[in-house]
Amino acid sequence: MRILIVGGGGRECALYSAIKNNPRVTAVAAAPGNAGIAALGAYCYSDVKATDISALTKCAADFKADFVIVAPDDPLVLGAVDALDAAGFKCFGPKKDAAIIEGSKSFSKHLMKKHQIPTADYREFINTAEATAYLENADYPIVIKADGLALGKGVTIANTFDEAVAAVSDCLDNGKFGFAGKRVVIEEYLSGVEVTVLCLTDGADFIAFPASTDHKRAFDNDLGPNTGGMGVIAPAPYYTSEIREETIRNIITPTLNALRIEGRLFRGCLYFGLMLTGNGVKVVEYNARFGDPEAQTVLPLLNENVDLIGLFEACRSGILREFVERNNLRGKLFKNLSSACVVMASGGYPDKYQTGLPITGIDFRPPDRDVFVNYAGVSVKDGKPHTSGGRVLTVTALDKDLSSALKKAYSEISHINFEGAHFRNDIGYKAIEFLSLK
Ligand code: AMP
Ligand code: GLY
Repeated sequence: MRILIVGGGGRECALYSAIKNNPRVTAVAAAPGNAGIAALGAYCYSDVKATDISALTKCAADFKADFVIVAPDDPLVLGAVDALDAAGFKCFGPKKDAAIIEGSKSFSKHLMKKHQIPTADYREFINTAEATAYLENADYPIVIKADGLALGKGVTIANTFDEAVAAVSDCLDNGKFGFAGKRVVIEEYLSGVEVTVLCLTDGADFIAFPASTDHKRAFDNDLGPNTGGMGVIAPAPYYTSEIREETIRNIITPTLNALRIEGRLFRGCLYFGLMLTGNGVKVVEYNARFGDPEAQTVLPLLNENVDLIGLFEACRSGILREFVERNNLRGKLFKNLSSACVVMASGGYPDKYQTGLPITGIDFRPPDRDVFVNYAGVSVKDGKPHTSGGRVLTVTALDKDLSSALKKAYSEISHINFEGAHFRNDIGYKAIEFLSLK
């Protein structure tokens, strides 16, 4: 099979590594991919933007793709799967009418309210005066969210009335997020521990990856601005079997049912961003795709003999349960190991940063060990790797327990360098503390 991966970050690098040794896979391309993915062996259509749907369709035809994995949020929300499907290409990823669960926070909040799925209380506004009147009597902190996709930057946790009004005004009056910010959701602040659960689903049945915990703030001790994610550990120790049962009963199954009832069958990877609160598990957000860097952490936990492409095809065809049973995969999908990943970012990320800086200590070795690098913002100039993005690369390590995995990841990262390189030093520390108190 010839596989085309749409996207060009660390998540797509991890997807490439997860499928390239599959005996059914004969060739893999990525659009646009990146220099690291290319160095690992995939053909990269580097001029093609993941949001350029007609160019993607041309790519799929040029590559004679048998199957296309659409990984990032924006092409999914724009309808890339619908277009590729109409052109005769089989895809993994939800169609536009289901991807809206990520594309519009207003849609997802309404869906949860209608179907009684636990989440933060909320109101939505398109008018600053009305939002301001509401904020005058609200409890703080409070959360302001741009309705649409905003590169993970559309959420403000406001501690005061003035901060909240400024965030609303940035969206509704100042056009900070363009069309995505023309509507805002204002929601109750949830406190607790955050956990991500990624589910492969055919719209009816699902299989869940081990729960993970991302670290979204830029700096140690959860300080600094929100980023796309600075590091992840899995399995998240907070996600006990009782919490898992509660999540399946109150959130995962009702969400899949709700989407089906609304005529928006979701086939792909559904990302549940959860808050474990004192009042039960609540949904913080849904994404219509694999998380990044969550995917880089949980995909390597799949057992070597699991046919991931087969699982993707089964999701697309609505036969996930049959596929799992036929291949006797129930309870045998994942390694009994811990996984940790640490992101190395450009100095200044997620705000302004410099690119084009030489990187030392990476060799584009295939990820055939239990510690390896996924490439995201990496380019090659004169045969040498250079930085080309905010999140530059990620080190992922697997080991028998979380402490050993983290030790291995940090040891590897200490050999890699570029000017201004920044990574968090405290990935997984809270989880280790939690485990030691148990
Ligand atoms: P989102 O893009 O909706 O995931 O929001 C980004 C991050 O903001 C989340 O991962 C949380 O850390 C935080 N956040 C979002 N909504 C809430 C909420 N209602 N209460 C507390 N934190 C939140
Ligand atoms: N790591 C968070 C996300 O992928 O949205």
